[in-house]
Amino acid sequence: MSALARRSLVPEILDGLAADDTRAIRSRRDLARINALMFQAPIMASLMRKYLTRQPCRLLEIGAGDGTFMLKVARRLAPDWREVDLTMLDRIGLATPKLAADFARLGWTLETVTADVFDWAGKADGKRFDAITANLFLHHFDDDGLHRLFSLLRRKAPLILATEPLRAKLALAAARLLPAIGANDVTRHDAAHSVRAGFRGSELSDLWSAAGGRPLEERRAGPFSHAFVGAAGLPAGDAP
Ligand SMILES: C[S@@+](CC[C@H](N)C(=O)[O-])C[C@H]1O[C@@H](n2cnc3c(N)ncnc32)[C@H](O)[C@@H]1O
Repeated sequence: MSALARRSLVPEILDGLAADDTRAIRSRRDLARINALMFQAPIMASLMRKYLTRQPCRLLEIGAGDGTFMLKVARRLAPDWREVDLTMLDRIGLATPKLAADFARLGWTLETVTADVFDWAGKADGKRFDAITANLFLHHFDDDGLHRLFSLLRRKAPLILATEPLRAKLALAAARLLPAIGANDVTRHDAAHSVRAGFRGSELSDLWSAAGGRPLEERRAGPFSHAFVGAAGLPAGDAP
């Protein structure tokens, strides 16, 4: 059996570093370049355009990191979508006043939540959103964790959209070339392990269905990415 036939998870180094650790700061810069090389922002923006047929008012980005990814997505969407209320959640508080100002220039209002996604999503109260997005985030969790997370998230929004690493030989080979762009040791470690923890086939759809949701689309996207979209699928009248 191929080593990539099943997901394998190893803790990512970045997750264990403080926000102001110099290796973490450098690795988050690398991440922005990796997102560009993977075409993550255009892939996410086109999924959002396809499934959010009316301009959304409230979006939630989970595992948002330093927000540079979502800012790139917003720049693509803002000519058509104004006055979006964006909440960015991450376990580490990384948003800066400059980031909020960048979003404000697009007509988007930024709110940040520093919390573990499970703790936050487990709270019964709170805002509902038009959609939840995740980029290079879901692969952090094993299948049991994803089942639990999906069960919680589908009560928060009618739609979830995710762009994740594709678990494939080409993506692994590309991760091994990261020294060529000067990526640091944290990035090189985490990128290879992210591919091994990534997705293929209908893995996210199966987990989403098991959590009671209705998968809408799951496929390879671009050379190194795996895209997933699911509807909450709550019966009429059951939406909180
Ligand atoms: C690989 S980074 C991706 C960041 C961002 N989405 C991007 O594309 O640049 C994963 C992010 O998930 C966050 N994270 C990991 N586990 C988390 C959890 N349980 N709750 C909230 N955030 C978490 C990390 O702090 C990190 O910022």
